[in-house]
Amino acid sequence: MADSQVMSVLAADTPELDLAGHSFVVRGPSPLEGTVEVSGAKNSVLKLMAATLLAEGTYRIANVPRITDVGLMAELLRAIGCKVTLPGQDVGPKQDSGPKQDVGPNQDIGAVLIIEVPAEIEPVAPRGIVDQFRASIEVLGPMLARCGEAVVALPGGDDFGPRPIDMHLQGLAKLGVEAGTVDGYVHARARELRGGAIRLDFPSVGATENLLMAAVRAKGTTVIDNAAREPEVADLCEFLSKMGAQVSGSGSGTLTINGVDHVEALQPVDHSVVGDRIVAATYLAALGIATGEIVVTGVDLDHMAVLCGKLGNMGMEISAEGESIRARVSNRLSSAKFSTLPYPGVATDLKPLLVALLATADGVGSVTENLFAERFRYVDDLRLMGADIRIDSHHVVVEGKERLMAAKVKAPDIRAGAALVIAGLGAQGETTVSDAHHIARGYDDLAGKLNSLGADVSRS
Ligand code: EPU
Repeated sequence: MADSQVMSVLAADTPELDLAGHSFVVRGPSPLEGTVEVSGAKNSVLKLMAATLLAEGTYRIANVPRITDVGLMAELLRAIGCKVTLPGQDVGPKQDSGPKQDVGPNQDIGAVLIIEVPAEIEPVAPRGIVDQFRASIEVLGPMLARCGEAVVALPGGDDFGPRPIDMHLQGLAKLGVEAGTVDGYVHARARELRGGAIRLDFPSVGATENLLMAAVRAKGTTVIDNAAREPEVADLCEFLSKMGAQVSGSGSGTLTINGVDHVEALQPVDHSVVGDRIVAATYLAALGIATGEIVVTGVDLDHMAVLCGKLGNMGMEISAEGESIRARVSNRLSSAKFSTLPYPGVATDLKPLLVALLATADGVGSVTENLFAERFRYVDDLRLMGADIRIDSHHVVVEGKERLMAAKVKAPDIRAGAALVIAGLGAQGETTVSDAHHIARGYDDLAGKLNSLGADVSRS
């Protein structure tokens, strides 16, 4: 499917997300005050959607963010043969999908996604959808588990340097999969998936998840060592376990999967997506720039412990309040040094947000990037806003300014786009962030939620 066709299908499904050619206009500065609710994590829901391919039936996934990447994954599942009803669409009478499980306190009927997986699926993930987002590669493992073969176009996604899939393919080879790449498509096949011992060179989130989903149906036991420990990976483990998969070690660096022999051993389930810690951190960074007092709900403070400890050292007062996080910033924050690391470290996704935060903090701070070599595409735009930023190898050194200046800037990707919006909260005048569609890939109504906290953000 051509890009334009995909975007028009998505826009028809989710008109509020049609931000192509749009900008966010931020008028600053203004302090933030109030409560903001964070929805489910993009980097969980996309993998849960892929996991539904493992077994026939009707799945109901709650606490789903209204973001374009969910629409893209829906489109991909449809191409594979599933029926997908996005949140907010009229689904008519509730279908019978057997006994329901409790989907948890976050369930909001407006944000429930329904996926009907047929008895037969077409294990082909076409270019045109797959090359628009990275998580598309996550259908490879479940399609192999279900069909013994899969053809998947090489994935796209945010451009922050090379993003290979070698660890996915090397791990799959340990499970008996033969794979090769022809004309930009991975062709993978396994006569029989069999359990194996896999040690990842790096705790890759995507490779861990793909291997985990393939191993669910492999004969025997699979051990994934140096597995990613992100809360979103743990959410996938929980989802798979509810389906009947035998997974242990969730949240640790070693996952053990005892493969289930028959597809009938796996059942469709209901589930509520874990809260988005990166989106929650975006609102905390916004507060650090704008000052004020906010409550962030729908996220687990434990998932953000290292970040919150650092923000506390910078002068942000943060406390857990029931299931919410209360944060207050009365004065300009002091600078700090951050280093991005796999979970439980400070996430690489936070880097642009932290650079924006440091741009208005008092003193010289830095962010050292340890995951993606080229995640620097927003720096020139922050400089246009008056930020004093120097790049030294994989370190970004930032000398804070009391106030940034409004400017016309461009969102290069999801998190960097959000970083430019929150930088605008600390700038005098009107900042225009164009290419807003990047932000809509990962943020559910960023402008509306900032406005509910007293900011002045509009679309143009
Ligand atoms: N890597 C390899 N080979 C592989 C896989 C990964 O060399 O086969 C390298 C990557 O190039 C990178 C590092 O390992 O240097 C980590 O990559 P990882 O596989 O963990 O990342 P991912 O699964 O592609 C997910 C998130 C990203 C997030 C990273 C790291 C999704 C859809 N994406 O990507 O999120 O930055 O983990 O935590 O889950 C975002 O949400 O904006 C985003 C980019």
